[in-house]
Amino acid sequence: MTPESHSPTGTDDPTLGPPPGCPAHGLGPGGLHRLYGPEAEDLGALYEKLRAEHGAVAPALLHDDVPIWVVLGHGENLHMLSSPAQYAHDSRLWTAVQDGTVKPDNPLMPLFAWQPICVYAEGDEHLRLRGAVTGAISTIEFRSLRRHINRATQHLVNQFCELGTADLVSQFAEHLPMAVLCEILGMPEDYNERLVQAARDMLKGTETAIASNEYVMSVLTRVTTRRRAKPEDDFTSHLINHPAGLTDDEVAQHLRLVLLAAYEATANLIANVLRMVLTDPRFRAQLNGGQMTVPQAVEQSLWDEPPFSAVLGYFAKQDTELGGRRIRKGDGLLFAMAPGNVDPRVRPDLTANMMGNRSHLAFGGGPHECPGQDIGRAIADVGVDALLMRVPDAELDCEEHELRWRSSISSRHLVELPVRFAPKPPQDVMQRPAVNAVPRQRPNWQVTTEQAEPVAPAPQPVAPQPASTPEPARRLGAWQRFLRWWRGY
Ligand code: HEM
Repeated sequence: MTPESHSPTGTDDPTLGPPPGCPAHGLGPGGLHRLYGPEAEDLGALYEKLRAEHGAVAPALLHDDVPIWVVLGHGENLHMLSSPAQYAHDSRLWTAVQDGTVKPDNPLMPLFAWQPICVYAEGDEHLRLRGAVTGAISTIEFRSLRRHINRATQHLVNQFCELGTADLVSQFAEHLPMAVLCEILGMPEDYNERLVQAARDMLKGTETAIASNEYVMSVLTRVTTRRRAKPEDDFTSHLINHPAGLTDDEVAQHLRLVLLAAYEATANLIANVLRMVLTDPRFRAQLNGGQMTVPQAVEQSLWDEPPFSAVLGYFAKQDTELGGRRIRKGDGLLFAMAPGNVDPRVRPDLTANMMGNRSHLAFGGGPHECPGQDIGRAIADVGVDALLMRVPDAELDCEEHELRWRSSISSRHLVELPVRFAPKPPQDVMQRPAVNAVPRQRPNWQVTTEQAEPVAPAPQPVAPQPASTPEPARRLGAWQRFLRWWRGY
């Protein structure tokens, strides 16, 4: 990166502040802020400091004081993502990699090390690899997807509903996407606690991450071999049989990409939405009056707390300019969707609700825009809705300020979301979700999948029913029949 000793705030003036590199103040060489260490404990606050000091594109330092541009502006992020002639995802172009500033043991290496998968590819190779993934995604039938999500939710809720307490992160949000993904990929028998733990372990980058990666790859290689020999109607078989002609290794690597990207992002999304629903008075107020639906709550969460907070990175292919900054060929840039989504130029009032506006950066943009976003949305929409149908009386079982997050440059996970509720009997997983609680007053806030402004006669709320009692035979209205068909249960 251009080592501009620019510091509009004068932080590189020794008379005005701590000397450059002073670790006590978190500032590194050139008076630049570090995106790691003590100063980065609250990355959201640090991004706002950078925005105030430098504007939409700010210079900063990654681990080992590797220089990086942080793209904070909404429009600047979109411009970067949509300009493949100027920026690529290929870290081999990064001057810091070429000149050895990035050491092989840099802890962020797994986030940017080049691999032969669509994320890092460009041009025709990107089209070939991404075409196979999107082709396989296009064969997913959304009605049966919703049915899988509902059944997996019922199964998970059955494991804790009699207890009256649960941790919705480890017992729900982290399991649901993996259960659904295993079903989609055609390996439902491989969904188990070990796979969930291995995926978590890899993403946390613990010392057992390499062994966990080997375990995940062995599962994915096995399913690739199985489906190559005997294709079925599932994502893996369609990926293998796509005219792009992926090799077995390419298939397994793309299954890994889909499994991990989808798992982590969707688990974060579900946890974030549930936290908002349980704690945010804005949500309660709107949900109270039935003014907000689960999909709208999900979309608001994608603005306020995108499941990935930043992607490392994009790399300049030529000298260029972004947000008034001179970017040199080989500079690295952080696609920072979390600060991009709260850019005051697009959101002057952060408390305003963003209903109907999907122009957030949570799924990226340009040629690499997430091809699985509707699947991620569906898992969160249907899963949260079905969970709240089963435990509508769930309340946070700790003080809100006691909730803890684990943060890294790329994401921010809620560690736990403890809830309490009246114990309830398990329910047949093949049934649609119902409130089968001991009779109890329903809370006056409740999320719904119903239309806020119904385009058809408003559906009646689902009446509480005991698990063992069959649903009373009654004629359903056209709108309810449609909703059942649409949800797949
Ligand atoms: C809430 C859930 C999800 C979020 C927030 C999310 C977010 C993202 C983002 C931000 C990118 C683009 C990164 C960039 O510009 O470099 C991306 C790429 C990608 N996502 Fe997702 N994702 C989610 C779910 C999924 C699911 C369910 C799938 C698959 C079924 C998936 C598959 C992919 C793939 C294959 C790419 C790479 C595309 C390319 O490079 O051309 N994602 N995702």
